[in-house]
Amino acid sequence: MEVILTRSGRSALLLGLKALNFGVGDTVLIPNYICNAVLQPIRHLGLSPRFYRLDSQLNPCLEDVKEQVSLANGNTGIIVVNYFGFRQNIAPVLDYAKRCNVTVIEDNCHGHLSALGNDEIGNAGDIVVSSLRKSYLIPDGGYTLLRSVSLASGTDLNLEVDGNWPSYLSALAKSRIKTEIRKYPRLEIAIENSFEKEASCIPPLMMGTASFLASRAAKRTGHFTAQKRIQGYKKAAAHLRKLGYEPMFEAQLLQGAVPYACPFQVESSQELVQVLKLLRGRGMRGHIWPTLPLELRNDKRREEALLLRRRTGIILLGHK
Ligand SMILES: Cc1ncc(COP(=O)(O)O)c(C=O)c1O
Repeated sequence: MEVILTRSGRSALLLGLKALNFGVGDTVLIPNYICNAVLQPIRHLGLSPRFYRLDSQLNPCLEDVKEQVSLANGNTGIIVVNYFGFRQNIAPVLDYAKRCNVTVIEDNCHGHLSALGNDEIGNAGDIVVSSLRKSYLIPDGGYTLLRSVSLASGTDLNLEVDGNWPSYLSALAKSRIKTEIRKYPRLEIAIENSFEKEASCIPPLMMGTASFLASRAAKRTGHFTAQKRIQGYKKAAAHLRKLGYEPMFEAQLLQGAVPYACPFQVESSQELVQVLKLLRGRGMRGHIWPTLPLELRNDKRREEALLLRRRTGIILLGHK
């Protein structure tokens, strides 16, 4: 098992896919409820995406996963996502993937601090990718955890010893975050300059600067940040209820999950715009999620799924 630090979740995913040594035309299965960012590394490597359905609670539909695997070309990997920091029921997919020699990449970009009971989220895939910057509200930071995959020999990690280091690493000397990452046996740093530029994932001004945000976050413990997020979710949920809407996944919060955002669903885009406006008036920032990738926008199968006819908004949980 080894962990490689990156500057973003996207770069972490790129590195995970590189570690698999997939070539042009190999297939990656992706849930059909996903943001464009996840597609960027897949396009960059020339891999073929195939989309599988989710149920109304964002759990993967195993039957559709099986069908998409049977239609896939070449080597096949599957991405499962812990949406908004909450674990979905991924066990059936993990079990099936193991039997069929399909590698599982667990996208834990929303859930670095999350756990259910003693079960930390982000410990199930063959490869786990995470976006530290989302969890800690810092300009950059992510990692790839290779759990049961070893780096193929000759994999170009773009290891850099100086240059544009992630700002949270610059602040690492004072950091308590490092103790959370250092539990993994081997640390490397991979910098993906050209891909990050192409994917515009980090504002250029923030690249590599030991910013105030990063230094401040580095002094926080995961516990501190987690508590702030849980408080933020509760506050957002109370506002939503006053407006007559139910927050999603609240039960998991009681079991110890740490939310990335407070998600909720409405019937139409117009309604969502209105609710977001009302929430803004109450000091809550939110937006529509996800920004769909082009590949999915006109996908008829997506529209068929009940979940995706509804619209999802998320309330961001910033902390002061
Ligand atoms: C589910 C999911 N995975 C991966 C990413 C990419 O993370 P980052 O923005 O750190 O590149 C995002 C971000 O938009 C995301 O929502």
